[in-house]
Amino acid sequence: MRESFLPFSRPSIGEEEVSAVREVLLSGWITTGPVTQRFEEEFARLVGAAHGVSVSSATAGLQIALMALGVGPGDQVITTPMTFAATVNAIIYTGATPVLVDVEGDTLNMDPSKIEGAITDRTRAIMPVHFAGLPVDLDPIREIASRHRLHLVEDCAHAIGSAYKGRPIGSSPSPLGVFSFHPAKNMTTAEGGIIVTDREDLADACRVMRQHGMSKGAWKRFAQSGRPDYEIVSPGIKANLTDLQSAIGLEQLKKLSHFQERRSQIAQIYDSELRGLKGLITPGTPRYPHVHGHHLYWVMLKTEELGMSREEVMARLKEMNIGTGVHYKAVHHHVRYREFGWSDQDLPNASYASSRVMSIPLFPEMTREDAMDVVRALWEVCR
Ligand SMILES: Cc1ncc(COP(=O)(O)O)c(C=O)c1O
Repeated sequence: MRESFLPFSRPSIGEEEVSAVREVLLSGWITTGPVTQRFEEEFARLVGAAHGVSVSSATAGLQIALMALGVGPGDQVITTPMTFAATVNAIIYTGATPVLVDVEGDTLNMDPSKIEGAITDRTRAIMPVHFAGLPVDLDPIREIASRHRLHLVEDCAHAIGSAYKGRPIGSSPSPLGVFSFHPAKNMTTAEGGIIVTDREDLADACRVMRQHGMSKGAWKRFAQSGRPDYEIVSPGIKANLTDLQSAIGLEQLKKLSHFQERRSQIAQIYDSELRGLKGLITPGTPRYPHVHGHHLYWVMLKTEELGMSREEVMARLKEMNIGTGVHYKAVHHHVRYREFGWSDQDLPNASYASSRVMSIPLFPEMTREDAMDVVRALWEVCR
């Protein structure tokens, strides 16, 4: 058994991030300003989007994205049950109602063939999640969105480094995509997120809405070249990213291709070493061309065959010093969302996965030996 505990995720922070934060701390400007502007430009360039509007979290970013599109009370937004609460909460915060459609059993991504049946005259947007870093099949979803005149807001929280048919996730979103920089994500700003779009009008609206609906942010008001007057011109929330966080983000961007390479190598070890294990289902691979961002590596436990619940397996692994995560208990299984009346019969694949899916350790600083410890522990527990 391994001697030290292996967490399921750990951010990679080095002296570079520490120095960058120190520099900003001592610069006299620590909230949203020039460093954030640079970070937004560099991130947007990386994913091939014309504009990036940073925010304090992807949750806030998803809410702002919907608000900028005019989604609000009385509207419905179609999304997936295999996601973090943030996705549905962002919809609820706008006053709109989330509508769930089931996922594909092998990828846990939103099933495009289920979307049209959920469209009503109140539907305004579709919000898919690129689950675990595997891009959803965007072409059929874009086609449905365009035929029904719906907005597509991509929840790209897991999709840093992912690509669909040769283009990075985040390039040409239709019209908005939102990434997360939470510490468990592929790169981090401690907390934070970014909205990306090719449309200047939407980028401007998001920028105003992330700061109370103010006509200009603090940097434009208080810097030497700025003017302190402002007007509240639209609804908004307070969700700006600080220069302290953006300084971390700029350093993380320099390391991102290395992070992605390591994640991919660890995932390949799991792919080849876990495939023969009978009590497990490993993630399926779609036929369309894509790059998996490997944010998470999930497995599905055949709990009936194993004679153990997921929680029992997780406890056994913990005793062996292997950390795990649950991504996710399906949205409709949480008490808070009972009022929406979603049922297991309508969402069979998500309902099956909800009590069986488990994420195993995946982060750039893991060694091959760490990954093999996970493999050996799983073989021992699941044999
Ligand atoms: C699919 C998904 N969407 C949105 C979010 C929200 O991200 P944040 O923590 O940056 O608000 C998360 C966070 O885990 C997520 O997994």
